[in-house]
Amino acid sequence: MRRILFALLCFSPALSYAQATTSQSLGLLPQPEHVELREGRFQPAAEASVSVSGVQGAEARDLGELATSILHEAWDVPVKAQRGDKPATLSLQLRPDAQANSEGYSLEVDAQGLRLSARTAAGLFYGLQTLRQLAKPGSREAGIPALRIDDAPRFGYRGLMLDSARHMQPLDYIKRHLDLMARYKFNTLHWHLTDDQGWRLEIKRFPKLAKISAYRKETIVGRNFDPYVGDGKPYGGYYTQAQAREIVEYAKQRHITVIPEIDMPGHMVAALAAYPELGCTPGPFETLTIWGVSDDVLCPSEQTFAFVTGVLAEVMQVFPSKYVHVGGDEAPVVRWQQSALAQEIIRREKLKDEHALQGWFLRRVEKFVNANGRKIIGWDEILDGTPSRTATVMSWRGMAGGIKAAQLGHDVVMSPTDYAYLDYCEGKPPREPDCMVGYLPLKQVYAFEPVPASLTPEQARHILGGQANLWTEYVTSTEQTEAKYWPRALAVADVTWAPSAARDWNGFQQRMGAQLATLDRLKVHYRIPEVRGLEADVLSLQPKTTLALSTPIPGATIRYTTDGSEPTAQSPQYTGPIELALVPTGTQVNARAFLADGRSSVVSSANFRQATLRPAAKVDARKLQAGLNRRYYEGSVLKVAGLETLPVVRADVAPAIAIPEQARPEAFGLRFDGYLRVSADAIYRFVLDSDDGSVLRIDGETVIDRDGGRSPGESYGSAALSAGLHRIDLDYFQGGGGRSLGLKIGREGEAPQAVAADALLHARN
Ligand code: ACM
Repeated sequence: MRRILFALLCFSPALSYAQATTSQSLGLLPQPEHVELREGRFQPAAEASVSVSGVQGAEARDLGELATSILHEAWDVPVKAQRGDKPATLSLQLRPDAQANSEGYSLEVDAQGLRLSARTAAGLFYGLQTLRQLAKPGSREAGIPALRIDDAPRFGYRGLMLDSARHMQPLDYIKRHLDLMARYKFNTLHWHLTDDQGWRLEIKRFPKLAKISAYRKETIVGRNFDPYVGDGKPYGGYYTQAQAREIVEYAKQRHITVIPEIDMPGHMVAALAAYPELGCTPGPFETLTIWGVSDDVLCPSEQTFAFVTGVLAEVMQVFPSKYVHVGGDEAPVVRWQQSALAQEIIRREKLKDEHALQGWFLRRVEKFVNANGRKIIGWDEILDGTPSRTATVMSWRGMAGGIKAAQLGHDVVMSPTDYAYLDYCEGKPPREPDCMVGYLPLKQVYAFEPVPASLTPEQARHILGGQANLWTEYVTSTEQTEAKYWPRALAVADVTWAPSAARDWNGFQQRMGAQLATLDRLKVHYRIPEVRGLEADVLSLQPKTTLALSTPIPGATIRYTTDGSEPTAQSPQYTGPIELALVPTGTQVNARAFLADGRSSVVSSANFRQATLRPAAKVDARKLQAGLNRRYYEGSVLKVAGLETLPVVRADVAPAIAIPEQARPEAFGLRFDGYLRVSADAIYRFVLDSDDGSVLRIDGETVIDRDGGRSPGESYGSAALSAGLHRIDLDYFQGGGGRSLGLKIGREGEAPQAVAADALLHARN
C-alpha cells in the first residue's frame, strides 16, 4: 500500500496523465505559453494550400516550402501556393502588431483553416514547428482540434553546445542536429572548435593549425590514464572555412545562430604543437592524446596577440554571430608564474597576480572583438580577472559564477554541470555505457532553473537563458552523440522556452512520449528511457505489496524479473500492477522497456523487503537537548570518509539539518549526530537531497548512500522504526560548485516533509 501511495504521489506518470491539462495531451514540446482549446476541429480536404504574406524574398520562399512540406507529410495531399485574396488552408502572415516578442507567434485553428501570425520570420518559423507537432504524418483523418495558441519563449538564448574538438562529427550529422534543434525551438549552437586534443577550423593565416594541430597521434583507451594505454590510431580532421560557412547558412535558415568557441589562453596545446613559439616554454608540444587540463597555455606575448587576433579575424568572417566565445576556462597559471615575460607584464600593468593577468589578456582580446562590432562570451573563470561589463558569462561550475556575474551587471548564460552537462551519465553509472563521471538523469535536467531565486528582478534580467553542453571525450560515434543529447535536450528545450509556471515532470514525460514517436520516425538514436517505478528500494511491515511500473514510451513493452536476472525479450511481460510477496531477505525486481523493433532500455532495479521494527534507543529523553551535534570541517574531499582527515573548524548544536550560514562557499564538510524522535511504529521513508555527497545512517545502519555524488538530486531510503528515539548520523561534503543539503521524512502514505526541529535531540555534554 505504502508503495502504491508513494508511487502515485511522486512517480507514476499514469495518474497525472489522467489529470493532465488538455494542452498537455496535445504533446507539444516545448510547452507553449498559452493554449486555448476550442470547440470543433479542422478536417483536411483532398487538397490544401498555403499563403505567405508580409514576408519577402528567400525568407518567404523558405517559410512557404516548410509549410508545404509539413502539410504534405501530415495529410499526404497536394499542397499548392495560394496567391491573392482567396483564403488558404494555412495562411502565414507577418504583422507588425502581432506578438511583442520577436520569436513569438499566434496560431489559430478552426473548421475553416489554420492561421499563423507573427512579427518576425522567426516567429512564423516557430509557429510552423508547433503546427508540425499538431499535424503529424498520417494525421489526415484525425485533423487538428480547434484552438488558439499564443506563444513566446521565456528566454532569448536557448542553446546546445557541441564539442567537435575531442571528437569531430561529420557535416551531415551537424545538419541533422540543427534540424532537430529547430524542431524544438533552440536558437543557438555553441560550437567548441579548438582544444588540447585537436584544432578543427581552417585558419588561412596559420596553415599549420590544419596541418598539425588538427591531428593527434592516437587517443587514450577508456580511462587508462595510469598506466596510460593509447589506441595507436592517428585521429583528426578539420572543417574548412567553406564547410563552416555551410553550417552557419544551414543554421541560419533554421533561425539558429552558430557561436564559435576558440578556447584561450588554456586548452591550446594543439595550437602549441604547431606554433610552439606561442608558449611560455620552448616545448616541443604534441597534440594531447589524453583528457584533462594542461599546464601548457598561451604565453601573453605580442606574438600570441598577433596569433589570437589573426585567428579571430578569420573566425569573425566565417561566423556572423553577435557573440564570439573565447573560452577562458581551466587555464592554470603555473607557466605564467615561471615566465619572465608574464611577470614583466604583471609589473608593468600593476596587476595583482597571474589571474589578473588572465583578465588583462582577455580584456585585450575583447577590445579587438568589440572593435569588429562583436561581443565576447566566456566561461565563468573569466570573472577571476575582472572582465569588462560587456563580456557575457557562461556559468558552468554550478550557478554561483552566473549569480556573481549577474550581480556585477554582466549578461549570463546558465550552463551548470549540475543540470546541463550531457556528457554526464543519464542512468545509474554502473548500468550506463561510457560517459563522463557524474550522474545527470532526465529528471534532473528537467529541474534546470536558469534564474536563481537569490537574484533581484533587475539582476535576473541579465540571465539570457540556458544551454546544455556535450563534451565528447568519451563520445566517439554519431549514435552515441545523439543518445547523449536526446531525450535530455527535450528537457532543456522545455525549460528554456516554456513559462516557469508550466513546469510539471509528469506532464513533461507524457509530452516527451509523443515526441519519442517523432524521433523514432526520424531514426534518431535517442537513449531509451528506463522503466519508472523502481527509483527506490521498498521496505514494508506487510507480507505483500503492489508493484506498479510504467514507461513514458508509447507502445513500449515492459518485461521484468524477480530472481535478480537481467530481463530479456522472453521475461514475463508487465501488464498491470502485480502483487508481490515480501520476504525478510528481500526480492530484487529488474525491469526493462522493449520497443517494437527490439531495442531496449537499460535495466532499472529495486529491492523489495519485509522489515522488522528496530527497537528504540534506551535513553532518557529528559537528559537530551534540542538539536543535533554538528561538526564543521574545511577542506576538499571526494567522499564523506575523507572528513576524518580534516580538522574540525567548529563544533556546535544545529537546530535543523541544513548548511549553516557561516559555512564558506565551497570545499567544506558537515557531520550531524544525535537522536531522531518518531511518534509511532512505522516504516519511515527518508529523502536526502544533497549537492555534493552525503550518507545517512539510522541506528548505525546506512539508510541512504549518496557518497561521492557531484550533482544535486534526491536519494531515497527507508527504515522500520519503533516509536521513540533512534540514533541518527548524517555526513555531508561540498567539493565545489553548487551546494545544498536537506532531509525529509514521511510515514507510509504521507508525502515526506523536512525533519521537524523538535524531532532532533542530542545528549547533554
Ligand atoms: C568546461 O566544462 N571546462 C567549461
